[in-house]
Amino acid sequence: MTSADITALNADFARDSRLKFSAGKAGMTKVDLTFHEAKLELYLQGAHITRYRPITGVEVLWMSDSAVYQPAQALRGGIPLCWPWFGVDTEHPDRPQHGYARTSDFSVVSTLTDDQATSIILALDPTLAPYSAWQNRARLEFEIRLSDTLWMEMRSHNLSSSPLILSNALHSYFTISSRSLVAIPALTRLTYLDKLQNYLPHQQVSAITLDSEVDRVYQAPPATIDLLDSGNGIHTSIRSWGNNNLVIWNPGEQKAQAMTDFDDDGFERMICIEPANALQQGITLQPGACHRLGQLIKTDA
Ligand code: BG6
Repeated sequence: MTSADITALNADFARDSRLKFSAGKAGMTKVDLTFHEAKLELYLQGAHITRYRPITGVEVLWMSDSAVYQPAQALRGGIPLCWPWFGVDTEHPDRPQHGYARTSDFSVVSTLTDDQATSIILALDPTLAPYSAWQNRARLEFEIRLSDTLWMEMRSHNLSSSPLILSNALHSYFTISSRSLVAIPALTRLTYLDKLQNYLPHQQVSAITLDSEVDRVYQAPPATIDLLDSGNGIHTSIRSWGNNNLVIWNPGEQKAQAMTDFDDDGFERMICIEPANALQQGITLQPGACHRLGQLIKTDA
């Protein structure tokens, strides 16, 4: 995007000092939102939230210092949107993992500032889908509302005249003080499919421990999940809707080091908690229907 494009975006959508567009890393277009002392940064590629600092002043999301900012490359960290498939596209395993939304440019639909929040709605143009079978079939809209909390919702619309199956996730990377100091009590007693054991089902009989690689799809999670970090005393509550699963991922030391865009020691300070409709639990959208997948993130120090 050129500086003229950024000027045009600001002319159409900037909101006083609370929402403005600029050239971010590698010249990629980003948007900065504020609500009182709370701050959020978002790249138009992927509608990717790369930073969220609530009023408490503590960064909530983990972003890899080694993330690669370049067109068509997914950013490592923050909140990538997985859409219109999560993980491997089983019918087309050659296609990129987690779909094409996270590497596509979104356009701005509208912005709003009022006493309640600073908000933006972005959309993925259905005519520009990179695969013909997806062109004009589905539209993705993503709304973000920054206030004392962070609210977001992915809205998937079936534009076609036949049922549409898709899977998706809000692939949220949370920053933590240390893997050994966090607890996620809501997972205890849930059933999960272990991606590291060919999706073998297990029950989480005691508290989850994050001392090695974890890649699990938890089934039927409760609406609210608490992430308790005894290292920094921060309690993050994540309320999600429209999801059948919750994916918990930490690559562990070896995989982190094998990924060029993942800081070598980053696995110690992050955990992905992803409201998702994954694997066989994707969603079937009837013609004209809309599915909402959202989450509300709230932190207390
Ligand atoms: C998680 C998956 O959601 O994302 C993992 O469960 C995957 O299997 C991880 O490794 C990261 O995926 P990517 O494509 O961003 O490297």
